[in-house]
Amino acid sequence: MNSNPNEFFEKAKDFSKNKEYEKALEYLDICYRYGYVREKVLIEKIKIFFELKKWQEAERCCLEYIKNPDDKYLESEVRLSLSKIYKLTDRMDKAVEVFDSINKNFIKETNAFYIERLDLSYSRYKDYFLVHQFSGNKNELYNEFNIIKNIPPFDSQTLFFLARVANFLHDYDYTKKLIEKYGVLAENNVFYKNAVLNENEIATGSVILKSFPRGLWLAVSSKCNVSCIMCRSNETNFELSENNMQKISTYFKYLEHISWWGGEPTISPKFYKLLEKALEYKNIKHTIITNGQYMPDELVDIIVKNNIEIVLSIDAAEKEKYESIRRGASFDKLLNTIEKLAPVREKGLVRINYVVMNMNKGELNKVFDFAGKYKISKINFIPGCGNNTEKNDFEISNVDINDISAKLADAKNMDVFNSCGIIKNDGRQINCVRNNFCHTPWTYMTFSYKGTIIPDNLCKFFNDKEFVLNETNLLEYWNSAYVQDLRKSVLQKHACNYNCPQANINKLL
Ligand SMILES: C[S@@+](CC[C@H](N)C(=O)[O-])C[C@H]1O[C@@H](n2cnc3c(N)ncnc32)[C@H](O)[C@@H]1O
Ligand code: SF4
Repeated sequence: MNSNPNEFFEKAKDFSKNKEYEKALEYLDICYRYGYVREKVLIEKIKIFFELKKWQEAERCCLEYIKNPDDKYLESEVRLSLSKIYKLTDRMDKAVEVFDSINKNFIKETNAFYIERLDLSYSRYKDYFLVHQFSGNKNELYNEFNIIKNIPPFDSQTLFFLARVANFLHDYDYTKKLIEKYGVLAENNVFYKNAVLNENEIATGSVILKSFPRGLWLAVSSKCNVSCIMCRSNETNFELSENNMQKISTYFKYLEHISWWGGEPTISPKFYKLLEKALEYKNIKHTIITNGQYMPDELVDIIVKNNIEIVLSIDAAEKEKYESIRRGASFDKLLNTIEKLAPVREKGLVRINYVVMNMNKGELNKVFDFAGKYKISKINFIPGCGNNTEKNDFEISNVDINDISAKLADAKNMDVFNSCGIIKNDGRQINCVRNNFCHTPWTYMTFSYKGTIIPDNLCKFFNDKEFVLNETNLLEYWNSAYVQDLRKSVLQKHACNYNCPQANINKLL
């Protein structure tokens, strides 16, 4: 070799500065071959691979450097880079593990370090939150909160994230102080401003709200293409008026979630019209609850393009039983819809609703087999409710369902959400919960197929009272005497029902 490896290294750095990365890498390889300081070469390569977004190569260099580091500060930087690579390639657990292995005594830019830690936490947990609900591991979240709670938020997103985590964990004092100090960060964005105000109104236990709802359950019509034995939608004749559709759309800018239901949403032109408008608002996640009997290709395209969650109502896994419960429905059409939904099924965006009744309570195992066959990994068990007790009532106890479904879910690696305890329980179990209360009446509005508005279908305490929608009162609902009474009652009693999965009350924490 004629030249000194040091010259090659300097040339490589010059090429890199001029963004001639391929040449820089060539020269770095020469340095490496001739035994030039291995660690320096690796650090330069990491920088280049970051610029080129070649994450695999960057990861390899980071891991090689970490095996034998020559400088404590550089080692911290390389670990930080490796954590970023894991974050960017969606390997969040690894990203956090590597980040938390960094020795804080050897960090040059402390500010940037903590900003990255909070951003990492946000990226790791954001998809587990939906309005006031959290679907991840609560104890893990509790530990995470203890790591991030002293890091100042640096934008509206991280402010909202810290507030929602604290409120979910019922640390209302933290939320109040946080928003008092940093609330201004959310001032310029309509969505975040409302969300942060809403978290503050939850934390302060306000009864009259200045913030608007963040989630809707929306029935645009009671019409259906079938007539299930347990359902009463066909007994009513509700149609959301054009005027009320327009009023509802004034809430879209504040929303995180809409659950479309009915009646059968997919047969209503109003559903398509309102969905199209709602899709303009990128903060909204959508769920469509459907019997799967009518699923036109245009709708499948919209679902796939927008990553919409689909809940398929399937109360029996065999044709004969299915068609006897879902009168007028065809099992073959359902299977056809399931096939069409393959792209969203693969992303885990399809779940099953199973209404537990006398007729099907002994067949829970079959729905697990069915779900497994079609690669659906989430099942909701809903208690059959209503006046038709002979068909709807189920003698099997909630404990049994929990027990059976937990065993089956474990065996088949599925997520099960069981709300069967709520109906059989009269609320007497609300006890020993201090400082916690259900957030649903602060966050959600549910438009039912009966033309009423309630916070959620599972709000049993107030079922005897309802807010009846008319042409002029929709925008009054949110702070109506009805909802104020409900909020006051929940603040006193903590929840309508201690078992309610929407109630977000967790004794562990
Ligand atoms: C009323 S439907 C509307 C959406 C759509 N038509 C469907 O069947 O999925 C919404 C959900 O309520 C469930 N459901 C119907 N009647 C019920 C009852 N009596 N008790 C509990 N859930 C019921 C349905 O199975 C469905 O999962
Ligand atoms: S398909 Fe849905 S809305 Fe229609 S009758 Fe059945 S449960 Fe009710």
